[in-house]
This record gives sequence, structure tokens and C-alpha cells, in this order.
Amino acid sequence: KENIYILGIESSCDDTSAAVLCNDSILSNVVASQKIHEEYGGVVPELASRAHQSNIVPVVDQALEKAGISKKQLQAIAFTRGPGLMGSLLVGTSFAKSLAYGLDIPLIDVNHMQGHILAHFIEEDGYTKPPFPFLAMTISGGHTQIVKVNNYFDMEVIGETIDDAVGEAYDKSGKILGLGYPAGPQIDQLAQKGNPKAYKFTKPKVEGLNFSFSGLKTAILYFVQRETKANPDFVKDNLADICASIQYTIIGILMDKLKLAVKETGITHIAIGGGVSANSGIRIALKNAEQKFGWITYIPKFEYTTDNAAMIAIVGYLKYLEKDFSDFDVMATARLKI
Ligand code: KG4
Ligand code: ZN
Repeated sequence: KENIYILGIESSCDDTSAAVLCNDSILSNVVASQKIHEEYGGVVPELASRAHQSNIVPVVDQALEKAGISKKQLQAIAFTRGPGLMGSLLVGTSFAKSLAYGLDIPLIDVNHMQGHILAHFIEEDGYTKPPFPFLAMTISGGHTQIVKVNNYFDMEVIGETIDDAVGEAYDKSGKILGLGYPAGPQIDQLAQKGNPKAYKFTKPKVEGLNFSFSGLKTAILYFVQRETKANPDFVKDNLADICASIQYTIIGILMDKLKLAVKETGITHIAIGGGVSANSGIRIALKNAEQKFGWITYIPKFEYTTDNAAMIAIVGYLKYLEKDFSDFDVMATARLKI
């Protein structure tokens, strides 16, 4: 059987990434994270697209070099069409088109959210792939979705955030507490040393499987302002307890919705993805749910959960098998739906 080599390109937000796949195995997955946004406390779109512009060629060259193959061996170029920041998407889209055009090979457009989900199908020693149908929860700085995955390209979004993403809730809460960006990993670290029931934040009331996180951020802001008036050192004195309480609330929100999704669909295979799946609280909660409710949970390697091109390349490979290629007039689409 012929080996199929696919180059994947991801540039939807603030990571420039390129990966080379041989069939469903990763040969390389290079990610250039943009540090520039840290000093602004969040991603600045204009700066992101500029950084993609300067990173893309070296990142692609590195991915090919690490994979040990030349451009001429590639059978197709897969790229992120959307959703994401338009200025960022345009860089990857234009680059992918030019390269595929120059090499005279197929171009394959990929939905970033499908990438997060289909990352579970990258071949890895010791990793069991989820069986269809399964539920996928994608949780990151840009997304919060629960998707019913019937097959590779038969997916249904059954719940999503109506305002902030869960990672944003972490990052914005961290900003209120004076932590640097991104604050998610720091809150997670601090939470492990605190009492999760020290402070109570009410969970938002959102119908069905949708999420809302903007109210929580406001509740935390008012809480901190009130307590700081009484004790200027309140945050410093109680940081671990505050973080543990925030984490407890957020994980509670995620788990409540997952439980409801399982109840509504009868599906107990749960796959998670996105940067927040690194969170220790969600990992423990999922392990407990395996024991308690008999769920079977799937968490891919960290490298494949945050934004990366390997997940774009695997979708490219699956589409390649179907000969599902793009026209060269395909456009980057900021609000692309699954
Ligand atoms: O997937 P990702 O790298 O980029 C996108 O947003 O697409 O996710 C980054 C987000 C940030 O909001 C960051 O604070 C959050 O994931 N994050 C975490 C943890 N590690 C990363 N949030 C909570 N706990 C963590 N351990
Ligand atoms: Zn993402």
C-alpha cells in the first residue's frame, strides 16, 4: 500500500503550526507560539497575523525537515479554513493555496473544530480511539462545545457557549486576581493547594446544553472588589482558596452539562480536547465519572489538544481518502460552522 504524506497548516489564532503525517501517523508537529500577546493580556489579532506571516515559512520548513521528507513527496496540503481570526486564517490559507498550486497537488480545507475532535484519530502507541458515536467536548480559550460525533464527518453541535469560552473564564478571572496571561494553568496549580469550598460562586442558569461564563467573571470581579475593601491583602492572603473555588465552580459547570448530554443522548464515550483539557480538575472529574457512571473517557496527548497542525493534517488525511478536495477559490471563513 502506498504511503500518503500530508502537510497540515494551522493559523487560526495565535499559534503558527505545521505538521507532516504519513497516513495517520505523525512524523512532525511544529508549533510556534506567539509570546507577543502576553504583555497585552490576550490575543491581539493584528499582531497575530503579522507573526503568522513571519513564522509560516520557517515553521513549514522545520516540519518537513523533522519529518525527513521533501516538498515533492507531499500528496496534499491541508489547512485551517476557519473558525478563527480572519487575519490569522488568511495567512495559512494563502500560503497553503500557493504551495499546493506550485506543487500541483490537492488542497484540502479543514474546519478547526473538527480538527480538535478528529485529533483523537491520530495513531499513537497505547492510545485507544473513541468508537462512534461519541460525545466530544472541546474546551479552550476560544471554544466551548459539546458535539455528538456520529462519524468522521457527521457531527452535530448539541451545546456551546453563548458568551465567553471556558479558557477565557479562566484567563479573565486570573486577570482580576493579578495573574499573568494565560492564567488557566496558574489557577489550576494554585487551586491544588486551596479549599474548593472556601467561597461559593453561583453557577449560571442556561437552558439545555449551552454554556455561559461571562456572569461568573462578573461575580468574581464584584466578590474581589468587595473583599478587598475590607482587607486590601484579601487576594494575596487567600489566593489558593480563591483559585480552588473558581476551579470548583467551572468544573462543576462543565460536568453538569456533560452529565445532561449523556442523559439526553445515551452516549457514554466522552472525548475531550482544547487547551483546558490539560486541567487537573477536569481530568479528576472525568476519572471519577468513569468509576461512578461507567463512562469511558478519552484525552489525547497534550500536544494534540492545544492548537496544532497535526489535528489539521489528520482531517486532511481522512478527507484525502474520500477524495474530498477543495477548489482553489476557497475562502478563509472566520465563523465556519461544523
Ligand atoms: O487550545 P489552546 O491552547 O488555544 C485556544 O484557545 O484555542 O487553549 C488555551 C486556553 C487558555 O485560555 C488557557 O488559560 C487554557 O487553555 N488552559 C488551561 C490550562 N492549561 C491551559 N485552563 C485551565 N487549566 C489548565 N491547566
Ligand atoms: Zn482551537
